[in-house]
Amino acid sequence: MEQLVNQIKELKDKIVANVEKDAEAFRIKYLGTKGLVKAIMGEMKNVAAENKKEAGQKLNEFKLFVEEKYEELKQATSSTPITNHQSIDLTLPGDDLPLGSRHPISLVKNKIISIFQRLGFAVAEGPEIEDDFHNFTALNLPENHPARDMQDTFYISQNPDWLLRTHTSSVQVREMQKGKLPIRIICPGRVYRNETISARAHCFFHQVEGLYIAENVSFADLKQTLYFFVQEMFGKDVKVRFRPSYFPFTEPSAEMDISCLICGGDGCSVCKKTGWVEILGCGMVHPNVLDNCGIDSNKYTGFAFGMGIERITMLKYQIKDLRLFSENDMRFLKQFTSAV
Ligand code: DAH
Repeated sequence: MEQLVNQIKELKDKIVANVEKDAEAFRIKYLGTKGLVKAIMGEMKNVAAENKKEAGQKLNEFKLFVEEKYEELKQATSSTPITNHQSIDLTLPGDDLPLGSRHPISLVKNKIISIFQRLGFAVAEGPEIEDDFHNFTALNLPENHPARDMQDTFYISQNPDWLLRTHTSSVQVREMQKGKLPIRIICPGRVYRNETISARAHCFFHQVEGLYIAENVSFADLKQTLYFFVQEMFGKDVKVRFRPSYFPFTEPSAEMDISCLICGGDGCSVCKKTGWVEILGCGMVHPNVLDNCGIDSNKYTGFAFGMGIERITMLKYQIKDLRLFSENDMRFLKQFTSAV
C-alpha cells in the first residue's frame, strides 16, 4: 500500500513539474491503453484485501487528476492550430514587421544640418532647462527689457532663475563662453514659449540657430550663407529678400523672406497676397553680446540667424496646421517616408 501511495505521489509530482506541451502525447503516455494510469491501476492486485478500499479511492483520485490535466492541456494548446510539426512550412516568408518612418521635423532638421555642415558649420547642443543669463541677459536682454515680453516662457518653481529655453540662442552663448575662436556652429533643438496653441503657434517647437564669429565677418557673408541655404532647401528658383528688423542680440538685424512657393510670388492666401513668406531672423552679433560672453568685440565680428523648423517644414510640404506635428496621427506621419 505504502509503495502504491509513493508511486502515485511520484507520478503526480512529475506531471505538475513538467506538464507535456503536447496534449496528445500526454494522453498516450498517461491515459492510453498502455499508459501509466492503467499500469498503476494494475497494482491493485498486490494490495492487501483490508487496504483495497483506500487504495481504490487513491487510484480513482489520481485518474481524475490526470484527466483534468489532460483537459487543461487540450484547452491551452487548442488555440495553436498546428499540432504537428510537419505541417509548418519553413519556406514561407515571415510576417511583415510594420516599419516606422522619420518624423517630418526630424527629416527637415537633418536636411538643414547637412546643408550647413557642407559650409563648415558644426552642430552644438545645450540644455532645454536654461538659466536666465544664458537665455536672456547674455543676449543683451537684461531683466525688465521689453523684448522679453515676446518670449514669455515656463519657469521652474524650484528655482526662479531656471526656465525652459525660448530659443537655442542660449547654446550660442555657451559656445562663445568656451572662448575657442573662430566659432562656426548651428544649434538645433526644442524650445518653449508660453503661447496659446493654434494652427500657427504652439507652446513648444523646434529651431535651428546659427553663429559664425571670426575676424572680418560681414553682412555680405551672412547674406550669401543664407542664400545658399535657401537654394539648397527650396530649389534654385527661390528668391530672397531681407527686411530690417529688431533683435536685442544683433545689430543691424533683419528678417529674411523667400518668394512664396505656393503661388510663385503672384500672391495667394499663404503669403497673404504679398508673394513673400518670412522664414528666419538674423543679423550681426551685437558687440554687447560678444563682451558679455568674454569675446573681444574690437577684434571679432560675427553673424547669427535663427529659424523655426516647423515653419520650414510647413512651407516645404504645404502643411497648414502646426498642431499636426505633435498629434501622433499615423495618417499624417505615414506620408513622410522618404528622405527630403
Ligand atoms: N532667437 C530669435 C527667436 O527665437 C531668432 C533669431 C533672430 C536668432 C536673430 C538669431 C538671430 O540668432 O540673430 O525669435
